[in-house]
Amino acid sequence: ESVHVFAPATVANVVCGFDILGFAVEAPGDEVVMRVTSKPGIIISKITGDNGRLPLNPEKNTVSVSVRHYLQSVGRNDLGLDIELHKKMPIGSGLGSSSASTVAGLFAAKTLLGDTRDAAELLPFAIEGERMACGHGHADNVAPALMGGFVLVRSYEPLEVIRLPFPKDLYCAIIFPEVDVPTREARQIIRNKVALKDAVTQWGNIAGLMSGLYTNDIDLMGRSMQDVLIEPVRAMLIPDFYKMREIAMDNGAVSFGISGSGPSVFAFTKDANTAHKITQNIQQHLADIKIASQTYVSGI
Ligand code: HSE
Repeated sequence: ESVHVFAPATVANVVCGFDILGFAVEAPGDEVVMRVTSKPGIIISKITGDNGRLPLNPEKNTVSVSVRHYLQSVGRNDLGLDIELHKKMPIGSGLGSSSASTVAGLFAAKTLLGDTRDAAELLPFAIEGERMACGHGHADNVAPALMGGFVLVRSYEPLEVIRLPFPKDLYCAIIFPEVDVPTREARQIIRNKVALKDAVTQWGNIAGLMSGLYTNDIDLMGRSMQDVLIEPVRAMLIPDFYKMREIAMDNGAVSFGISGSGPSVFAFTKDANTAHKITQNIQQHLADIKIASQTYVSGI
């Protein structure tokens, strides 16, 4: 018995919602093939597309760590599982690479067990995968990867996640400049304290973004997608961040910002053509400054 599962890349934070907002894209993403075996325990028999960067040790790979927590919770430690992980998205890109593996693994295990629970109920296990990957159990990548669309993490304790509506004609342009920005490090440089004035700006923006999502007001979403807390610090880790923003906005983007902890950046647009124009122009600019990049255009 075997299953083949896809889990998508995700854009966490959505600029103003650090650790509480994220959305899934249609592509890229990861694929997992999982089989039941006769020998108890989890093995990772194959990983492709990772250039040798990911461990085959099931204790150290996000594709299996959360599955182990899940099997424990349903009392099925006796089960034998063989996992193949096919990475079809860049690692360390800020596009939720570890989450995509986590979620594909969990969903495959749930399917093999015939567990009919809502996928959202797997979230606590998925969070354990994130904790192992970067030292912090945030849910703003795993929740949208599991549930699809836009998701709000209203609270961590107790965990409460809410699916949000979003405008149908919303497109996302993603550019991944090929420099390394590990999430663990991108979290360490953030300031711990915020000024009340900045907090007021930030929660006004988050509320504006929520309102825009519920009323299909893409321009209001765009005006609200500004971050005075995290972006000014993390922008330093990303090559020509402000120049990329200028190119995106000059070419018709509704908004522009860092995807998750970077280095990927993303722009929202109202049509696919504009998104393609933005990815092409930013990729050209990065090539001019000798930085390779990968780009994606996706609906949500
Ligand atoms: N919210 C997390 C962060 C997402 O910004 O660190 C990491 O992908």
